[in-house]
Amino acid sequence: MFLQLLEQLFLLRDVFIGLIITAVIVYIIHRLSSTKRIVDTSRNPKEIHIVRSPTEWDHLYPTINKLTNTVKILGLDCEWLPYAEGETESRVALLQLATYDGLCVLVRLCQMSHDDLPKSLLEILANKSIIKVGVAVKDDGDKLERHYNIKVRGCVDLRHVVPRIRGFYECKSRGLYGLSEGILGYKMSKIPEVRCGNWEAPEFTHDQIHYAAMDALVGIDIYIKLLLTKILNHIPTRREMDAQFYLHKDYKQTVIYLYDGAVDKAYKFRGTVLIKPEQRQINQTFTQIKHKDTLLDSSPQSSNQSSVKPKTPDVIVEPGYCYMCGLPEPVRILRSSVEFISRTHNGKTCKICSRCDKHELNNDEKFPKI
Ligand SMILES: *[C@@H]1O[C@H](CO)[C@@H](O)[C@H](O)[C@H]1NC(C)=O
Ligand SMILES: *[C@@H]1O[C@H](CO)[C@@H](O)[C@H](O)[C@H]1NC(C)=O
Ligand SMILES: *[C@@H]1O[C@H](CO)[C@@H](O)[C@H](O)[C@H]1NC(C)=O
Repeated sequence: MFLQLLEQLFLLRDVFIGLIITAVIVYIIHRLSSTKRIVDTSRNPKEIHIVRSPTEWDHLYPTINKLTNTVKILGLDCEWLPYAEGETESRVALLQLATYDGLCVLVRLCQMSHDDLPKSLLEILANKSIIKVGVAVKDDGDKLERHYNIKVRGCVDLRHVVPRIRGFYECKSRGLYGLSEGILGYKMSKIPEVRCGNWEAPEFTHDQIHYAAMDALVGIDIYIKLLLTKILNHIPTRREMDAQFYLHKDYKQTVIYLYDGAVDKAYKFRGTVLIKPEQRQINQTFTQIKHKDTLLDSSPQSSNQSSVKPKTPDVIVEPGYCYMCGLPEPVRILRSSVEFISRTHNGKTCKICSRCDKHELNNDEKFPKI
């Protein structure tokens, strides 16, 4: 009797272990088949050059000229100090460029004389046949024109390009961060101390240099990966991206397919609700914002925008943190406080700091499958 019971217990144990193993196997198979895993195909900059004077640029120019003659694409990004109190904009401090082969140039505009900017740099930026890719790259170009009278032409916003490649990538948002994660499988650094750091400092820290270079490099890498996805009709590997992709017979027409109609076009929000904070009460530990003002529906879709009556609901925004980087509000970095902007995300109002906002415009516009 006792032995029989023991036997049954052992049998039960075996059945139990068997069940667990089966469950684990089923789970693993499910994970592997159901999630489209994007292997990290990001790369580190091949070289990073910091340019503080026309002479330093002149040394680099022959190399850059050769590279942009081969592949007429540059990654472009800009950095500036957080806005000071009462300011609506701060001067661009740094211009970052990245070539297709991973050469990154950090041009410290704030350390250079306005009238003495290298002619060949201005020519590259103004040359419409060398396209500049990035998120909100047109806005960066406009800023450079306002602050330094630098003309930037050939700007192609990645958010225009991404929807042209469908069925391969899933991105959480159309900011550079979201695109990088979804397309390159690379999570960009979100450290607020670096992102909102002192871009006018006499010397950059190691983290600042890497962050600044990656911002431009990720832009061009996303473009190249999308380009190759279209040409090859599959997700390219790092090796395929490094190969001489520009020699492919479909290269030229695909580059044009990607940017056609998008050059120097500003990207418009779609379906994003902006709430302009009018009245805010800042508490030391947390902020409570009460909005009793206009909800702006900035949808360019409605051809009849002027007739859309602004709604005026009462919205109470949860106190808290930047939805993107987790920066707590209120925050003071350097000489100013970082502006927080309210947006709706999945039907909920959340906040986003102005730094992240630059990268994460349209954060509630979750991609279906692109
Ligand atoms: C623009 O760049 C292309 C490619 O590098 C070059 O062939 C062309 O001469 C440049 N145009 C001007 C006006 O500099
Ligand atoms: C600030 O916080 C305290 C409690 O932490 C609260 O009693 C007070 O009402 C808050 N003030 C404002 C203006 O929200
Ligand atoms: C635009 O609004 C006006 C006035 O509300 C309306 O008569 C007109 O049909 C609208 N046009 C379109 C294209 O929706």
